[in-house]
Amino acid sequence: MSQHYAAHLATLVQRSEAALARAGFDHLVIASGVEKYHFLDDRPYPFRANPHFRHWLPLAQQPHCWIVHTPGRRPLLVHHQPDDYWHVPPAPPEGFWVEHFDLRVIREPREAAAHLPRGRVAIVGEADAAVADVVPNNPQPLLDLLHHERGFKTAYELDRMRRAQRRAWKGHRAAEAAFRNGGSEREIHRAYLDASGHGDLDLPYGSIVCLNAHAAVLHYQHQSPERPAKHLSFLIDAGAEVDGYAADITRTYAAREGAFADLVAAVEDEQLALCAQVSAGRDFRDLHLECHLRLAGVLRNAGIVDMDPGAMVAEGVTRVFFPHGLGHLIGLQVHDVGGRHDREGREIPRPQGHPYLRLTRTLAPGMVVTIEPGLYFIPSLLAELRAGPHAGAVDWDAVEALLPYGGIRIEDEVACTEDEPENLTREAEAWARAESA
Ligand code: GLY
Ligand code: MN
Ligand code: MN
Repeated sequence: MSQHYAAHLATLVQRSEAALARAGFDHLVIASGVEKYHFLDDRPYPFRANPHFRHWLPLAQQPHCWIVHTPGRRPLLVHHQPDDYWHVPPAPPEGFWVEHFDLRVIREPREAAAHLPRGRVAIVGEADAAVADVVPNNPQPLLDLLHHERGFKTAYELDRMRRAQRRAWKGHRAAEAAFRNGGSEREIHRAYLDASGHGDLDLPYGSIVCLNAHAAVLHYQHQSPERPAKHLSFLIDAGAEVDGYAADITRTYAAREGAFADLVAAVEDEQLALCAQVSAGRDFRDLHLECHLRLAGVLRNAGIVDMDPGAMVAEGVTRVFFPHGLGHLIGLQVHDVGGRHDREGREIPRPQGHPYLRLTRTLAPGMVVTIEPGLYFIPSLLAELRAGPHAGAVDWDAVEALLPYGGIRIEDEVACTEDEPENLTREAEAWARAESA
């Protein structure tokens, strides 16, 4: 691990040097950030360190810390260790990464100013992190390059992401069991947390735990404590984190055989075919459009929409059933930065009519993307379709019968390599199934 980390750090140093040179600065300074408080209250919101900070070292929970990189020098960590008897103060840093940093300990946030360089300094952080005259300036040309390069994962990062996948799969296995046992969304969610070893606050995103028609809400944010009268379907989109790196996995289960189970299997077939195309040189926008075409085929084969698949895509009919993007970059953030811009920060446009696609770049080795096609039965979008020119092509009885099931999403993370794609999620799933066999 230490070796992987040393190589990771060498890559960050190189990228930092290139970004500083491009933007005309001599030092890179990164603030971990500050806690934010509820209005008129003394309770802070959960803290999460600046992702630029977490890229250099795995301290996700510590405000008022700083990293300094000056080309040619060892990176410096200014570490905030307050004398605080209300809370457990941060322990002195330890782990595989510590030996690579010079360390200065501060007791008060303002003491950081004495350790930070002045002059031509790029300061990356939120405005509130300012101490004395050290005020974040977030130079755009520097950020553009760093965000773009963050799309290419180091071996260290891939290792963290594989581990995050395994951690998430422990939760997914327990969640499926809780569903099969007739649990409520809240009970399923708790089973997920217990098995993955997460609390609500350290998940990479709020878990999406949907029984029945709730699966039609793309980012359903509740976890109902009520057990429904009948369990028809279960969609769970839940992740995990290792050293700040996220997993983002979705599975959909049918309670029993039938039309919905067949539809889940058909979506999964297409999902796997799309995962197999995560290869260098592939424009992700084309893959997204291919996904629409494949889902059109599923809708036609299932007898839901009787139209030529190409026409279904061209006329926007598939967007009613699949109203989000095929996937996104993932890493330090579940929706990682840098998905829609080139190295110079120029926007790479989305295909017209696809406003939610988060990734428009061409795939290259080192990129990790999610592949997450879905088919949903969303009443408001279906009402528009029913009022439009293609209503006659839809078997509305079939749609009515599927509404109580909500929808389907199947989501894996796939790494682009020089060679065959590496499906991080399926590998971890196989591991989890073998563990529990
Ligand atoms: N969990 C949010 C997403 O899949 O993008
Ligand atoms: Mn996702
Ligand atoms: Mn997801």
